[in-house]
Amino acid sequence: MKPEEIERMRDEALDAFAAAGDLDALQAAKVAHTGGTSPLALANREIGALPPQAKAEAGKRIGQARGAVSKALAGRQAELEAERDARVLVEEAVDVTLPHDRVPAGARHPLTTMMERVADVFVSMGYEIAEGPEVEAEWFNFDALNFVPDHPARQTQDTFFVQGTREDGKPTVDDESGIVLRTHTSPVQARALLDRELPVYIVCPGRVYRTDELDATHTPVFHQIELLAIDEGLTMSDLKGTLDHMVKALFGADMKTRLRPNYFPFTEPSAEMDMLCYVCRGESVGNPDKPCRTCSSEGWIELGGCGMVNPRVLVACGVDPEKYSGFAFGFGIERMLMFRHNVEDMRDMVEGDVRFTRPFGMEI
Ligand code: PHE
Repeated sequence: MKPEEIERMRDEALDAFAAAGDLDALQAAKVAHTGGTSPLALANREIGALPPQAKAEAGKRIGQARGAVSKALAGRQAELEAERDARVLVEEAVDVTLPHDRVPAGARHPLTTMMERVADVFVSMGYEIAEGPEVEAEWFNFDALNFVPDHPARQTQDTFFVQGTREDGKPTVDDESGIVLRTHTSPVQARALLDRELPVYIVCPGRVYRTDELDATHTPVFHQIELLAIDEGLTMSDLKGTLDHMVKALFGADMKTRLRPNYFPFTEPSAEMDMLCYVCRGESVGNPDKPCRTCSSEGWIELGGCGMVNPRVLVACGVDPEKYSGFAFGFGIERMLMFRHNVEDMRDMVEGDVRFTRPFGMEI
């Protein structure tokens, strides 16, 4: 139990700790130099057999050596842990600015979600969704809706005729077998009245076609929403209340509509429906300091057409106009999307560029 022996044991332990390059190596060195079978532990056990004087001395030396060893161990342990933590922070760092989804979730087109949003307003009031074909019999698109045979809307410059045009390109007005791409969703009114039991409360979102060139404010294919309510005792105030409810639900509780006289063959009386400009709420009117681009400072935005269903339409569809009455309206979804979201060019809606649709979000 020479002092040099004990120093050697201590120094070997200190060297082993210093040489340990990681926490595993340090753990092994710890077992070897401080464990029950380590040289210093064995030496400690031998102290008991020494004579008193030597015992005290050896005890002190070994105690000091073991104290130095455990201090060195704790120091190296702390060093290696700090090193590991620093390394882990670097190695396991996550770059939160990297794109997180390499295959971004898709979303439906804002026109689709807009149509559903409008339809939902009516579904929640008990209306049913109705649909009709886009390739439609001329009879449903025009005749059943009281368009006279030479009504200008039947001209080929407005209507895509699929079948039933004359050599000179004019529609065959006396041929009921004509087939057109529907120019509005109103033929679904006639279909619903023929198909369903009364009363009828339907909403019909759908695609319609007109022979317009694609430009900033026209597209030959666009979308409308049609509403039809036929029951006993319905009046124009029911129409007005329904319109007001719709714009409140879509644009806010302080919204309202106004009606201006107009003409449609299938409604009588007919009206053009406007809604309060949802941007300026009418405040731009007579207020040159606060002009409104959305409504051109008119205070109102034109939504579409409406009216009380013409009794002639009811008769054409086998409904007794003495007993039943009702109202209908229809409007374009593209236009609504344009002023609701400040879309300036209708072409953006049909070109399919995701840079247009993305800001509308991932609504599904
Ligand atoms: N179908 C008409 C249009 O396309 C709109 C409308 C629908 C008018 C229902 C009155 C009633 O312009």
